[in-house]
Amino acid sequence: MIYITGDIHGSEDIHKFSVSCFQEQKQLTRSDYVIICGDFGLVWERNSPHDRYWLSWLDEKPWTTLWIDGNHENFDLLKEYPYEEWKGGRVQKITDNIIHLCRGSVFDIDGTSIFAFGGAESHDKQYRKLGRSMWEEELPSEEEMETGRRNLEAAGWKVDIVVTHSLPLHIQNQLFRHLDYGKNALNDYFDEIDQRLDFRLWFSGHYHKSIEFDKKHYLIYDNIVRLNENGFERIYPLSEYSRDI
Ligand SMILES: [Fe+2]
Repeated sequence: MIYITGDIHGSEDIHKFSVSCFQEQKQLTRSDYVIICGDFGLVWERNSPHDRYWLSWLDEKPWTTLWIDGNHENFDLLKEYPYEEWKGGRVQKITDNIIHLCRGSVFDIDGTSIFAFGGAESHDKQYRKLGRSMWEEELPSEEEMETGRRNLEAAGWKVDIVVTHSLPLHIQNQLFRHLDYGKNALNDYFDEIDQRLDFRLWFSGHYHKSIEFDKKHYLIYDNIVRLNENGFERIYPLSEYSRDI
């Protein structure tokens, strides 16, 4: 089974993985996957007892955790983890059971193809310090975006699922016009991907809302959903999906 949820921000929003919230975890094995749509935040501080504690708490869960990066990651620390190939894409194993999905990869997870592309622009830069709480790598390089195009080309521009942190610009504009989410190269790139790619479902974190934009695009935060042949079902419904913010 594949489950998808939104940001966890280190330990701040990790409670959704507790047994009382995510009850069916008791039946899961390492061949079940939980994908976090960015702002993982547990590769944050070097030699931090806090990060170590929560990484081992998560590592001991019965499933395999997969995550894409958001904007709130320590990219200096993250780049120290070795890269390897895994299920058709590029990953970094943080622990045996916690795996970072690198930008632009297409994975085949038990017959489900997943395009993963992390990153987002911080919209609270005035409160952040470069190299301490914000990194330039929060937005992708041209090379990472090109890697994504190349891998999608190899997949025939068809996948089952897309997981990103931020949204295509046209959706972000419609939902958050009144908020300070700026236009950037990544949102433009996702507009391009959204147009060219044949996909079933697209999940984005970042906005801390659970919104059904349409029958293909979902913003996800505290909810945990389980993919099935018809789409998905909600497993841990903290908030109802809505069309409003
Ligand atoms: Fe976040």
